[in-house]
Amino acid sequence: MVFLSFTLAIATPSCSPFFSKIVIKRSCKSLYNDHEKTPTTNTKPEKLIIPSETSLDRQTVDRRNLILGLGGLYSTVNLTSLPSVLANPIKAPSFVPGCANSGWNLDFKQGVRSGACCPPLSKQLEIDYKFPTTGETRIRQPIHSASPEYIEKFKKAIQKMRALPDDDPCSFKNQAKVHCAYCNGHYTQMASGYPEKVLHVHYSWLFFPFHRWYLYFFERILGDLIEDKTFGLPYWNWDNPAGMEIPTVFEEGGKSNPLFTSYRNVNHLRPAIIDLDYQMEERNHSPLDQIRINLCIMNRQMKRNASDAASFFGGKYVAGSNPIFRGDPSVGSIEAGCHTAIHRWVGDPRTPNNEDLGNFYSAGYDPLFYVHHANVDRMWTLWKGLGGEGRKEPTDKNWEDASYVFYDENRKPVRVYNKDCVNLEDLKYEYEVSETPWKSSPPKPRCMSFATETTSPENVTDMKFPLSIRQTVTVHVKRPETNRPKDQKNTIKEIMLLNGIKFDGGKFVKFDVFVNACGDITRISPCDSQYAGAFGLLPHKNSEIMDSKTGVRIELTELLEDINADGDESVRVTIVPRVGCDDVTFEDIKIELIDISEKESK
Ligand code: C2O
Repeated sequence: MVFLSFTLAIATPSCSPFFSKIVIKRSCKSLYNDHEKTPTTNTKPEKLIIPSETSLDRQTVDRRNLILGLGGLYSTVNLTSLPSVLANPIKAPSFVPGCANSGWNLDFKQGVRSGACCPPLSKQLEIDYKFPTTGETRIRQPIHSASPEYIEKFKKAIQKMRALPDDDPCSFKNQAKVHCAYCNGHYTQMASGYPEKVLHVHYSWLFFPFHRWYLYFFERILGDLIEDKTFGLPYWNWDNPAGMEIPTVFEEGGKSNPLFTSYRNVNHLRPAIIDLDYQMEERNHSPLDQIRINLCIMNRQMKRNASDAASFFGGKYVAGSNPIFRGDPSVGSIEAGCHTAIHRWVGDPRTPNNEDLGNFYSAGYDPLFYVHHANVDRMWTLWKGLGGEGRKEPTDKNWEDASYVFYDENRKPVRVYNKDCVNLEDLKYEYEVSETPWKSSPPKPRCMSFATETTSPENVTDMKFPLSIRQTVTVHVKRPETNRPKDQKNTIKEIMLLNGIKFDGGKFVKFDVFVNACGDITRISPCDSQYAGAFGLLPHKNSEIMDSKTGVRIELTELLEDINADGDESVRVTIVPRVGCDDVTFEDIKIELIDISEKESK
């Protein structure tokens, strides 16, 4: 690794004297993202001015004022004394002055909810959150089988939250805005030194931990409002056939019901069975078929396509990068799959942006959001319980030290870290056990050969990239190895990487990927092994991040065994555009062997 010396000097008078005029060593890479000029191309010696935490938080520093210095003139400090400078975890700014209600595209005026999502100001700066030492464990229960008393408590708590004044950070409106602020460009990476980069908690490995913390405080606020410190959020058990409808308690009584919102798709109210592969069209499956398909989808997104942290949590996202950028990005299987499908399935098509659940900015306005995400969070726990070498949280420091700021139930701004939300014992909540029939609903092969096929796809190496998927694309991709020994397959997975997928972040995007599809492709369902995965993204309403890039990982090891194709030199991949794919392009399609037992690089 190449180390360069930089001179650090202080830009603002309020900073700690500790930082003044010191020289540290660090790699170029951790300072600059790949799209920026690296210091080696810069011949002019400049100074790097690193402001203190406080001045960063107070937004006194703009990246335009950060000047790089090469060549140290001052005394050197030990690298370990500056840990936060070395790693590049995403650090949300203090929301006191760090939030900006700006950057909205004009379209936003049409939204049924406000696009100004900054939380109310607090005079205090945040402190690192400490878990309370007292308090019982809260039990989160499936809402479809919850007792009337428990439902009443939940309703009452939401009602009280709705009744809080607008300047109370715990009010329902302000809680809803938390999601919008973290997803629609209200925060930048200023606290990590990149004020020009937007901070976003979707499409990457921040997805699960951010939402876990968000719900954690939401739940504690509700408990406080009804003076029940044991109150646990209910969860929408959409992975269980008994819970695959919008729970009745959210609809009954209409406007007088605190759990109600008028912005839901009325065609999807009870008794409609949820479509975990929703792509903006009604498929008219019989309820039983829909349930069977949903279970296959869960099985694939939890097991087959989620054998390591990168596949399940999503790709690496560190300070200085855009949430999704070329390199090592990908959206996790659950986020891109059932999670997004549910948002879209519930969102109201009569509203301009599929409010409430169908768009990031408005999702938190539907109480169903919190119950939906409680089940998403439960998937994290269940996934770890499935075992296997790779089923553990990312071990990268940049994941562990990423942090966000929330108001706790005492209206105190607190900073929380990914590494502290890994153990439910610390968080003091648990999920009541519910059936998981998807565990035993694996996809099955639809056919064993594709001799009847007449199309002759091109080899991926002959194709022109970026590759448009305006229309269905079929291509042969070479495999690194065939018929690997069984014990190797347990730790080294064969994974197809669809990289550099560029899409319009203002649109709902969905496409499906098939491997060795046979017969009429329109008849292949998520219960067939050849259906390799679905990929969906919820839109933003922020023009600055409209041009977005990401990747998808699709695991082939078991799929190819299933269809008896492990001896084939290549696979035939078919990508079928479903929604919003007119301007979607791919930069690369390849298959790699990835060791899932390996620790990620620190
Ligand atoms: Cu932050 Cu389900 O989205």
